[in-house]
Amino acid sequence: MKALSRRTEQFTDSVIRRMTRISDEFGAINLSQGFPDFEPPSQITDRLQEVAKEGPHQYAITFGATNFREALAKKQKHFSGVDVNPDKEIVITCGSTEAMMASMMSICNPGDKVVIFSPFYENYGADTILTGAIPIYVPLKPPAFDFDADELENAIRQPGVKALVLCNPSNPCGKVFTRKELLMIADLAKKYDIYVITDEVYEHILYKPHEHVYMASLPGMKERTIVCNSLSKTYSVTGWRLGYVIAPPKIAERVKKVHDFLTVGAAAPLMEAAVVGLEFKDDYYESLQKHYTHMRNLFIGGLKNIGLTFTEPQGAYYVLLDISEFGYEDDNVFCEQMIQKVGVAAVPGSSFFREDVNHLIRFHFAKQDATLLEALDRLADIKKKMRK
Ligand SMILES: Cc1ncc(COP(=O)(O)O)c(C=O)c1O
Repeated sequence: MKALSRRTEQFTDSVIRRMTRISDEFGAINLSQGFPDFEPPSQITDRLQEVAKEGPHQYAITFGATNFREALAKKQKHFSGVDVNPDKEIVITCGSTEAMMASMMSICNPGDKVVIFSPFYENYGADTILTGAIPIYVPLKPPAFDFDADELENAIRQPGVKALVLCNPSNPCGKVFTRKELLMIADLAKKYDIYVITDEVYEHILYKPHEHVYMASLPGMKERTIVCNSLSKTYSVTGWRLGYVIAPPKIAERVKKVHDFLTVGAAAPLMEAAVVGLEFKDDYYESLQKHYTHMRNLFIGGLKNIGLTFTEPQGAYYVLLDISEFGYEDDNVFCEQMIQKVGVAAVPGSSFFREDVNHLIRFHFAKQDATLLEALDRLADIKKKMRK
């Protein structure tokens, strides 16, 4: 048999999904893969029932149903202050996952370089491989996850750099970039004429006093910012696969074509049902923040009581636990054993870092109180059960 593609042979199984499989095998509480175990807003699911009867059930316009794009443009203007043309500057995709892939394919040639902060959401590595681009990693240094401005500039100034990927708020480290940091990144993007591809799926999951600053809202940045985002986290509908790209017309035009050939379009009935979510008033986003703040406080309060060391997220819904005290060299082994001995699943932090970091593991806390309390109950014995 002939060899399969060279481009994809470096792919490994997603570590997150492997942890989920092991977790299921041992009946552990799965705090590895990040999705909520609570219901989406009932207005959206009620609307879905109506749509099931009314339709649409056939292909929507490839770059997204008109009413969905119009509602999204209004929401984006409301929160970011940036005017968005719903016909020329929006492409609705199958999740932010496709949005990122279609964006990279639209701007990168094989051999182009893309700057990525490390730790990073694991899909970015695969996205660069599929587009033939070369990732250059710039460390966000634990425990504060700051970056060095010179290190960033040295990466961006390399010949062939086309774009920087900015995950803000950040998975896995929970960093929310400050306005000052974003202005510094924006200045470099303009100075070296590169695009900024943002991943803003956690834009509404923030903990006070942290605030989300939209890269596209900074001076001179709308024209070089490609926003990737989705409804997955904001409306607790990770399975609906509704995402989007917002970009200047020339780029959006290209993304529309890539998206058309990749997937044709997002699911028409789900777009129709989700419009009610895009039209929610501010109180929805305020209660979402309150709910996440509650879950965060419950979970990190519990970790504190157990006497563990961890990062306190500024945004998103992940905690990085420092496992140095347990004496393991390999965080994969630690996580596999924790599933079996403690009954709680996490993701080995090394899967997010380009650097040699093996002392952090990632929990997510988008879970009902009962699930979090049961997980904390099991973790209460972690020091006894996991110390080598
Ligand atoms: C940073 C980040 N980007 C993108 C995604 C995937 O989003 P979507 O469900 O819209 O494809 C995730 C999911 O966990 C994520 O954490």
